Amino acid sequence: MKGLSRKRTAAVLAAGLCLCLAPGCGGQTEENAKEELMESSLITVGFSQLGNESDWRVANTESVKETFTEENGYNLLVEDAQQKQENQITAIRNFILLEVDYIVIAPVVETGWDEVLSEAKEAGVPVIVMDRQVDVEDDSLYTAWVGSDMYAEGKLAVDWLSDYLEAQGRQEEDISIVHIQGTLGSSAQIGRTEGLDEGLKTHENWHLAAREVGEFTQAKACEVMREILEEVGDDIDVLYCENDSEAFGAMQALDEAGITYGEGGDVILISFDATEAGLRACMEGEMNVNVECNPLHGPRVEEIIRQLEAGEEPEKEEYVEETLFEPEDLTEEFISARGY
Ligand code: AHR
Repeated sequence: MKGLSRKRTAAVLAAGLCLCLAPGCGGQTEENAKEELMESSLITVGFSQLGNESDWRVANTESVKETFTEENGYNLLVEDAQQKQENQITAIRNFILLEVDYIVIAPVVETGWDEVLSEAKEAGVPVIVMDRQVDVEDDSLYTAWVGSDMYAEGKLAVDWLSDYLEAQGRQEEDISIVHIQGTLGSSAQIGRTEGLDEGLKTHENWHLAAREVGEFTQAKACEVMREILEEVGDDIDVLYCENDSEAFGAMQALDEAGITYGEGGDVILISFDATEAGLRACMEGEMNVNVECNPLHGPRVEEIIRQLEAGEEPEKEEYVEETLFEPEDLTEEFISARGY
């Protein structure tokens, strides 16, 4: 494996190499950049981050940046794909040309990776997938994956809702649910939607009043929630947002419409991520439940690289353990100690 007989690449990269991906960009060519990758004791990691859409994503990027520092022995090249798979594919191809030691990718969607990952494999560059998953014909195209079980998160939320309604004596009542989905085709959307769909199947009295895509962003979720409110009015018992950013956007639209939510409110609000802001909103009773999705994957990815460097075989898939939070579980001390 390449990681064991690597060329060490230049520390100069960390000090500001411009890896320009745009056509006609005035930055360095791959050849120039490669020339700068001189002998060095640092390990070069090319990281293709899918975007910057949410607080969760910011924490995830930070975790990688804080881990792969020069002091820790790394040159880290970060490319933000701005939610576009084609940008991630271009970034991966550039990393291959630069002969980086490892490629780390947080894929925007699950499908469409076979070709570019085959190119990485052929070039002998190990690929570590983080957060969302890739759906490829041949799983030898990536070395390891670490992230969350998004379906388990959805199921956790749905089981919580079922118990919550029962505790309120509302288990027989007709329940109208509004669902704001994340980026279609992403693991986080697929798993959390699957969890809800199962709940809808197993509870005859649960009805889907509206389902729209909020793209995991506050702005889009606010926009679609306004549209939903125009269509369905205030007949909403449950709002299921697939991340905290969407929940904040939807809350804004509900505020504008004068509809209350959270503990004692008109609408039961379910969110995912348990970011600092999300947990604070939950502690204050604005969200009824927040299902955890841990973004701190930097150290986990580094552990995989350490194992590869030591000639060991890492676990092919590593699921991070997660839980959910209700307002009564939360304190300010707990939230500020979590680090995201
Ligand atoms: O893939 C993880 C999801 O992506 C997080 O729930 C969300 O906030 C992010 O945008």
